[in-house]
Amino acid sequence: MKQYNITLLKGDGIGPEITDSVTKILSEAGMDIIWDEQLAGANAFEKYNSVLPECTLDSIKKNKVCLKAPITTPIGHGFASVNVQLRKYFNLYANVRPSKNLPSITTPFSDVDLVIIRENTEDIYAGIENKIDENTIHGIKLATKEGCDRICKFAFDYAIKNKRQEVGVVTKANISKLADGMFLNCFREIAKNYPSIKIREILVDNLCMQLVQNPSQFDVLVMPNLYGDIVSDLCAGLIGGLGVAKSANIGQDIAIFEAVHGSAPDIAGKNIANPTGLLLSAVMMLEYLGEFETANKIEKALYSVLKEGRFLTKDLKGNSSTQEFTNAIINKLKGE
Ligand code: NAI
Repeated sequence: MKQYNITLLKGDGIGPEITDSVTKILSEAGMDIIWDEQLAGANAFEKYNSVLPECTLDSIKKNKVCLKAPITTPIGHGFASVNVQLRKYFNLYANVRPSKNLPSITTPFSDVDLVIIRENTEDIYAGIENKIDENTIHGIKLATKEGCDRICKFAFDYAIKNKRQEVGVVTKANISKLADGMFLNCFREIAKNYPSIKIREILVDNLCMQLVQNPSQFDVLVMPNLYGDIVSDLCAGLIGGLGVAKSANIGQDIAIFEAVHGSAPDIAGKNIANPTGLLLSAVMMLEYLGEFETANKIEKALYSVLKEGRFLTKDLKGNSSTQEFTNAIINKLKGE
């Protein structure tokens, strides 16, 4: 078995609890990983006077792969989101968020299997805001041709690699004629290079309505940053909530894997958080590393625990602790 060096950010809130669960499961599944644990966010600020210290950045640069738990971002004041800073610093331009029904998690739909490809570095997340006067703010929605081209190309390449049939482009190009208009035009041009993939165009407001009525009609959907942020949380809701949603931030040669949810301060330290989102993100990480067999083994063990329904966390209407849920998965891995 190959040995890997992977940067680990345990984050804050429920971060440390769910990270411990996931690293334990990966180790029990036979992965040989040297976790290079680093700090980011408020914890890092306390120690290094920086929310994103050089040693953390250097570790990710060196290891090229990082598993990251959620990090709290102060709302409306304080430091800028560490998550956004990381994506920008390493140019992790593609945020991949698959949503597929999980066994025994009952939702209004049983046939959801779609993937959101969210542009991850531009749009209002570029953080360009100017105060014009006391009562007027300009928030800039950044779009570059390079940024639009590369995310659309990523979506088509993803579709080919993962044997998907269709890529849809999601914009508000009827209103944002320049920025979203360019995104749409880039999509149309790139699509010409992928004749085997079906395409569709949909406005984001219509998409939201269709998603809550008939989500199974969608396959791969590519969209600018803000729509991707909002729509992918909606899609997490379609498969059982934030506790089970996974994601990957992919760049040229660096990737950071993290759950979709945040640090959940309301349940932190109570041993009731659901580690599934981070575990499935770690499974995506194993697939990225080419460790398909172990990824499959972990996914099977998780599915089996979910199917049995004896050890579920509170968000999934069970009453097991994080630890009990984790142990149930480990027991499955051991064949018990
Ligand atoms: P949140 O995702 O932390 O929580 C929303 C709701 O979902 C809460 O009721 C929470 O208890 C529940 N929840 C979330 N994850 C869960 C899990 N694994 N198991 C069971 N229940 C879970 O969103 P919120 O409250 O808006 O954000 C809290 C903090 O997290 C904020 O500072 C925000 O900026 C940050 N955040 C960080 C992210 C990241 O590091 N990637 C992503 C999203 C938010």
